Amino acid sequence: MIKHEKLQKWVDEVAALTTPDAVYWCDGSQEEYDRLIKIMVKEGLATPLNEKKLPGCYLFRSDPSDVARVENRTFIASKIKEDAGPTNNWIDPDELKETMKGLYKGCMKGRTMYVIPFSMGPVGSPISKIGIEITDSPYVVVNMHIMTRVGKEVLEVLGEHGEFIPCLHSVGKPLADGESDNGKWPCAPLDQKYISHFPEDRAIWSYGSGYGGNALLGKKCLALRIASVMARDEGWLAEHMLILGITNPEGKKKYIAGAFPSACGKTNLAMLIPAIPGWKVECVGDDIAWMKFGKDGRFYAINPEAGFFGVAPGTSMQSNPNAMKSINRNTIYTNVALTEDGDVWWEGIGYDAPGKLIDWTGKEWEAGKSNSPAAHPNSRFTAPARQCPSIDPDWENPSGVPISAFIFGGRRPHTIPLVYEAFNWNHGVFVASTIGSEVTAAALDVKAGTIRRDPMAMLPFCGYHMGDYFKHWINIQNKTSADKLPKIFCVNWFRKSDDEKWLWPGYGDNSRVLKWIFERCDGTGEAVETEIGYLPPVNAIDIRGLDITLDTMRELLSVDREGWLKELELVKEHYATFGSHLPGELVEELAAIEKRFGKK
Ligand code: OXD
Ligand code: MN
Repeated sequence: MIKHEKLQKWVDEVAALTTPDAVYWCDGSQEEYDRLIKIMVKEGLATPLNEKKLPGCYLFRSDPSDVARVENRTFIASKIKEDAGPTNNWIDPDELKETMKGLYKGCMKGRTMYVIPFSMGPVGSPISKIGIEITDSPYVVVNMHIMTRVGKEVLEVLGEHGEFIPCLHSVGKPLADGESDNGKWPCAPLDQKYISHFPEDRAIWSYGSGYGGNALLGKKCLALRIASVMARDEGWLAEHMLILGITNPEGKKKYIAGAFPSACGKTNLAMLIPAIPGWKVECVGDDIAWMKFGKDGRFYAINPEAGFFGVAPGTSMQSNPNAMKSINRNTIYTNVALTEDGDVWWEGIGYDAPGKLIDWTGKEWEAGKSNSPAAHPNSRFTAPARQCPSIDPDWENPSGVPISAFIFGGRRPHTIPLVYEAFNWNHGVFVASTIGSEVTAAALDVKAGTIRRDPMAMLPFCGYHMGDYFKHWINIQNKTSADKLPKIFCVNWFRKSDDEKWLWPGYGDNSRVLKWIFERCDGTGEAVETEIGYLPPVNAIDIRGLDITLDTMRELLSVDREGWLKELELVKEHYATFGSHLPGELVEELAAIEKRFGKK
């Protein structure tokens, strides 16, 4: 019996519209997970993997057209177009609802409609939020089991009148009488896919895709796009950030939250094994942070997720041993390659493909003979966070962990130093609002060398006008005193020499940079004041045991005046996008840095 009338009414309405064969309320149990997996194995949608090597692991292959988030079909349907801002797709919400109701009509025919009560964040934490996802995809149910906290306790916390975020999802493929998917991943054609957000209603409607962020609605849709709107209205932060704890040899611990655009090694950083003796890094989360002020005036962060939905290619015992150890059991793999003995393989796993494989499309694949990758570049693992060997003891603390520093970074082969610290909060927001990655020749729609800006790594994930989002960042400092705010740093692991060689080793050696950040927060790290912020003097970065020359360190830690003058012109172009919504404080920061470089 559901005590929450509004919830029951919504579920009844959706069932009347979508006409499923059955309605099923998920309880989040292992028994439920196993049962759904079994059904999907029987239907040919899931392949059990080698029980000895990968106990409790399964492989799914999606439709080749349904392999990633679809940004051009993602909509922020605010009542007023201006409120969605220049960087989001917008459709009038009434019009969008009409269109989507047309698509939802009868769309679950032949399928079961699952109702998933889930909590983003530890159940009952004051920072957590409850969502209810309705979906006709059992693949979504099992993934939500791993990525969120699903079950009866969530309904108990919800009680009779609790607030929940309705998340409606359908794969958009009704079945005719007696028809089944026949092992084929169900989804709708691209022009019928809609990933829609209604910020004023705090509602999510998704149709036509079964993959990742389009379908697991707790993640990008709720925890970032809708939560960013709630955070603006309620005075907190919902950010695309990893959270890690770092402990020095004396046992002193600090927490750092960091935002990086996709493909910058966020999961690797979250699970890093320090190269410097005596230091420890522990993982609270690898993708999303929700932060509220505690009674002491500091920011406390929770990871709203319960699992990792990580990109497989490039993950290896060299690049991320903790990830590899997190995904060797109870893991769902999607679109990776399958070996003859029921193991998984992907490009960059650290060893050659063992014999013949079945690639992500289900075809035979042999190294050197096939000219497409065996695993899709966006193939994924879904694994419980508790399986990570470096999971932080406080990762589920309902009060969150206190944040000492924010770090922002991108892939910048030139100009941006290895690390620097912002002068103050407004300057830090300026730095964060300008991060981005240099586009390589692989992206065909833009010139190689172009910087794709991704402010706070939130461009695809902010549920309202980016200019207003910057203003929210500026305003939030007024809720506490300056000494309680996290210090803000910019990092860049991706500097290259003129002959295109990496200048910095990255991975575990990034702990050397984290150490300096720790020391700055502790009041001990040395810094020199420059035009761009506080830079570490070369000897302030611990390079003991690292094969790097002092010249290279100097190159990594100097201010390239010519490069910066060009950079500031590009920042001006970037800022023009936000028109009158760009906060005056950021205009002032831009003018101030120009002045420091001697420009009038
Ligand atoms: C992700 C992303 O999938 O940021 O986490 O693209
Ligand atoms: Mn992400």
